[in-house]
Amino acid sequence: MTLIFVVLRRVLLGLISSVKGLLTNTAVFSVDFILTVYNLITPDRPVGAVVPKGHPGYGGKWPEYTPPQEGDSRCSCPMMNAMSNHGILPRDGKNITFRELDRAVRRTFNFAPTFCFFVPMYIGGLLGRPYATGRFDLADIDAHNCIEHDASLTRVDSFHDADQGRIAAPLVEEVLRSGTGPGGDLTRADLSRLLGKRRVEAKRANPKYSSTFTHKMFGASNGSTLLTIFGGRVDDLRAVLLEERIPDGWEPRVRHRMGLTMAEFNLTVLPVELGIREEVDGSIAQAGIERYAATGGSEKHA
Ligand SMILES: *[C@@H]1O[C@H](CO)[C@@H](O)[C@H](O)[C@H]1NC(C)=O
Ligand SMILES: *[C@@H]1O[C@H](CO)[C@@H](O)[C@H](O)[C@H]1NC(C)=O
Ligand SMILES: *[C@@H]1O[C@H](CO)[C@@H](O)[C@H](O)[C@H]1NC(C)=O
Repeated sequence: MTLIFVVLRRVLLGLISSVKGLLTNTAVFSVDFILTVYNLITPDRPVGAVVPKGHPGYGGKWPEYTPPQEGDSRCSCPMMNAMSNHGILPRDGKNITFRELDRAVRRTFNFAPTFCFFVPMYIGGLLGRPYATGRFDLADIDAHNCIEHDASLTRVDSFHDADQGRIAAPLVEEVLRSGTGPGGDLTRADLSRLLGKRRVEAKRANPKYSSTFTHKMFGASNGSTLLTIFGGRVDDLRAVLLEERIPDGWEPRVRHRMGLTMAEFNLTVLPVELGIREEVDGSIAQAGIERYAATGGSEKHA
């Protein structure tokens, strides 16, 4: 083939794939908006009836919890691990389809169908596997700086421990005792403060520390999940974050008929992220300088 045809074909294929991506996103965001309005005008599901009948967890009865066994695949996401620990996803955490993940997240945690489609599709895109046919092991999502990123509230940075399935109990304990809401439950301000502090500490300790806008938003999304789906309740979060276990009798605190939409979720994610003082007061940059000084200038500072 002559060069001109190669170039033309590539431009055309590139265009088709961008248009496809754009159309998919536009469709997902439009449906998400409609679901948000639907949630506003319909009554919530009654307490005790959020998880649909016939699905594991209905009536607060979660299937047996077993911690991961030798050789099982786990990842940096406590909620995905919990689903495997209860057998809602395969207990070995392997060979999971994106469709299966979509259904399980929707029914277990009451995220909206749009969110449950968008996130696995996004992960599939990063892993180079199509949503419709792709399969993955939980640990696959921990490729550094795809989904997994530094300054987690529940994991040490991958620079310090490559096994991102390992729970960092001291970090989790700090989250659990930081709530300033009623009964010590977590508030938005608590999450902004915790995320800011972690970013500073991670940057001070990790010579390979990195952080992009997208990863900051993921981090704020994780924090916002604790506030929305878990209602900030530290008694429930103790089991979820320390053992990756769903407590008996638990159900999602978001009871909307169509679940937590992306639009509504962003109403928590954005204030949490924008409320991080350390992002603007220079402490993150200062942490980098301190680490550089501590190494006597032997490392390049990021
Ligand atoms: C994953 O599951 C599919 C369908 O059951 C099966 O064909 C495939 O061999 C499995 N792959 C692995 C690595 O177990
Ligand atoms: C958010 O979740 C991802 C995926 O589990 C994890 O890698 C990341 O470190 C988490 N971020 C925070 C701030 O907890
Ligand atoms: C809202 O949230 C979704 C995912 O949760 C994200 O992809 C989208 O970009 C967000 N929109 C805004 C305006 O932040």
